[in-house]
This record gives sequence, C-alpha cells and structure tokens, in this order.
Amino acid sequence: MGRAWLRTVAADDRVALAGVVDLDPATARRAVAEELGDVAVPVGASLSEVAARGGAQAVIDVTIPEAHLPVTLEAFGLGLPVLGEKPLAADLAQASTLVKAAADSGLLFMVSQSRRYDPGLWALRDRAASLGDLGVLTQEFFRAPRFGGFREAMEHPLVLDMAVHNFDAARFVLGRDPVSVYCEEFNPSWSWYRGAAGATAVFEMSGGVRFVYTGSWCAPGLETSWNSRWRLSGARGSATWDGEDEPVTQLADGAPGAEVDHGPAPLPPGTGTAGALAEFVTALRTGRVPMGECHDNLLSLAMVHAAIASSAAGARVRVADVLASARAEAGIPAQSPYPAPEKTGSGFPG
Ligand SMILES: NC(=O)c1ccc[n+]([C@@H]2O[C@H](COP(=O)([O-])OP(=O)(O)OC[C@H]3O[C@@H](n4cnc5c(N)ncnc54)[C@H](O)[C@@H]3O)[C@@H](O)[C@H]2O)c1
Repeated sequence: MGRAWLRTVAADDRVALAGVVDLDPATARRAVAEELGDVAVPVGASLSEVAARGGAQAVIDVTIPEAHLPVTLEAFGLGLPVLGEKPLAADLAQASTLVKAAADSGLLFMVSQSRRYDPGLWALRDRAASLGDLGVLTQEFFRAPRFGGFREAMEHPLVLDMAVHNFDAARFVLGRDPVSVYCEEFNPSWSWYRGAAGATAVFEMSGGVRFVYTGSWCAPGLETSWNSRWRLSGARGSATWDGEDEPVTQLADGAPGAEVDHGPAPLPPGTGTAGALAEFVTALRTGRVPMGECHDNLLSLAMVHAAIASSAAGARVRVADVLASARAEAGIPAQSPYPAPEKTGSGFPG
C-alpha cells in the first residue's frame, strides 16, 4: 500500500515527497526507485531523522496497524499532522489514545478510508436524500480472495480487515452513527481462513435506522464488488447500488429512476487515496475538518469492535459501552474531555 501512496503523492501537485521511512530502508529505497524512478529523497528507518532531513510538514502513515500508535505519536512529537491508513489503530484502546493525543496536541489526525472516495458512493448518498425517512440499509459482501499471509491467520479477518470499509461507507451514506449491534461471526466448513471469514451484523443506527451487513471472504461464484451490493429502503422509495456503476433509484409507483431528476451528483475530491490526500491537504490549508478526522473515524472502528464483542458474547452490544471500555483500558478518565476540533461538520461538501 506504501507504493500506492508513493504514486498518489507523485500525482498531486500540491504535495512533494520529503522522504520515505521503513523499518527496512532497502524496502523503501526499492519502492521509490521502482515507482518513481531516479528521485533523490531521504530514506531511512527513523521517522524523526528522515522528517528532519527532508523538511517534512506532514506524515502519511502506511505501516501495519500495530505500528499506527507509535508512528502517529512520534509524528505528533515532531509537531506534524498525520494522514494514516485505516484502521485508525490496532485496537479500540489504542485508537482512543490516539484520538486523545490528537486533541491534546491540536494536530490533525485523519484516517484514509479510501473507499469513501468513490463517485458511485457519493451518488448513492445524494440519491438517499430523495427517499424520505430511511428504514433499512442492507449490504451484501461476497468474495473469495486467496491472499495467503497474515489475513488467513487472523482471528477476525473479514470484520477487522475489510468490513471497516463497508461500515464506514454505510455511516457516510446514511449520515447516521451506530448505537448498538448484534453480530454473529462464522467460518464456513470449506473456509481457507483460520479465523471467521464470514459475519452477519444488524446495527441500530441513530434515529432507529437499521443497517444489516452480511459478508463472506470465502464465497466463490457471483462475487459482489469490493464495495458490496447495497439496498436502501426509505418512506418514498428505494435505491440499489452494485458497488461499481451508477446507483438505481425507484420512488413509490415509479419506473426505476424515471421521475427523479437527480441532476449531477457531487463528486469526491479525487478517487481512492487521491481523494483522501486532497481532503487532507484542503483541511491543512483551510482549517476545514476533513472526512475521516480521527474523532469521527473512531465511530467506524467502534462498529468493528462492537460487532466482534457482540459475536463473542452472543448478545446485542451498545457501541457507547464498547467505547467506554476502550477508554478505561487506555487509562483515559471517563470525564476526560478530548473534544473534536472546533470546525466540525459532516465533511461532505455541499
Ligand atoms: N485502503 C485500502 O484499500 C488498503 C489496502 C491495503 C492495506 N491498507 C492498509 O495499509 C496499511 C499497510 O498495509 P500493507 O498491506 O501495505 O502492509 P505491508 O506489511 O505490506 O507493509 C507495511 C510496511 O510498513 C513497514 N513498517 C512496519 N512497521 C513500521 C514502523 N514502525 N515504522 C516504519 N515502517 C514500518 C514494514 O516494514 C512494511 O514495509 C495497513 O494499515 C492496511 O490496513 C489499506
């Protein structure tokens, strides 16, 4: 993923590569040479040292989840804002520590959920506004990737590594935050994963809206897109999205999309990581709170960990309780204020 970010940085005129850090500098050097050619930038194993040599003004953290905490804290120690890959941190306690550290330092910490920057998703969110009160959103995610490596050894590969994208996208389209969840994780008999490659979760979102997710990572045949297959049901009609093409809307008694003059849907500031980078740069230049700001992104990660907790307990779990336990585990007092930045908002430009 670091290579994808090298290409994204190289393609954006508003940023310049100040240096590249990896525990193994040879890996970084090879990546720079193969992706960018003959570019002279500082490379090394120490963030502080490379940032100083290269005059870095921000850090893009594409390390493994377990390193997100130390790397982000080191960047804050240098006074640098951070754009970090998902997930926010390896667990919810570490995530809480980082959100508090961002608030205490006043530095921007934004999480890149690259699947948020998808034109089809933005169109679906736009269409959702025409459906009246929303009742239920369903997502079906069925794929059969054979990654090898760490994912096949993880305890919760689907929910922890993948579903955070789908859950975060559901929050984006619904404009609602999670209240509680009942989830069952499972591993089909033919699974090539050690941990749970399948899950079904029923979320209650704010305002009573339900979000029902069913996914499997060992589902050969009729695979859905990586964005999953969506159906959104509202008082005035329904919308579907295959995760790739234009969403389809049908209002009550209407032909699909016929009587709806949607006009052009708003577009993301770029697609995938390019969108996340554009959002980050705009935030740093204008002070506007970006999508994926850590206080907000914490709720997407909380959906993941609440689903896992529910599955383990065999019971419905409240997201606020899971967040409170994480704060306690991180040693953050219950009353500790670590407010979201002043200029808040959905981050969805008008
Ligand atoms: N948005 C997406 O679609 C997407 C896709 C893939 C991965 N990711 C995310 O990107 C991140 C990286 O994933 P990956 O698949 O590229 O992992 P990877 O294991 O292939 O690469 C991680 C690199 O980070 C280096 N590293 C680890 N700890 C470090 C530290 N403390 N300091 C400096 N370097 C360190 C490793 O040496 C390695 O080169 C993860 O958080 C993952 O969830 C996102």
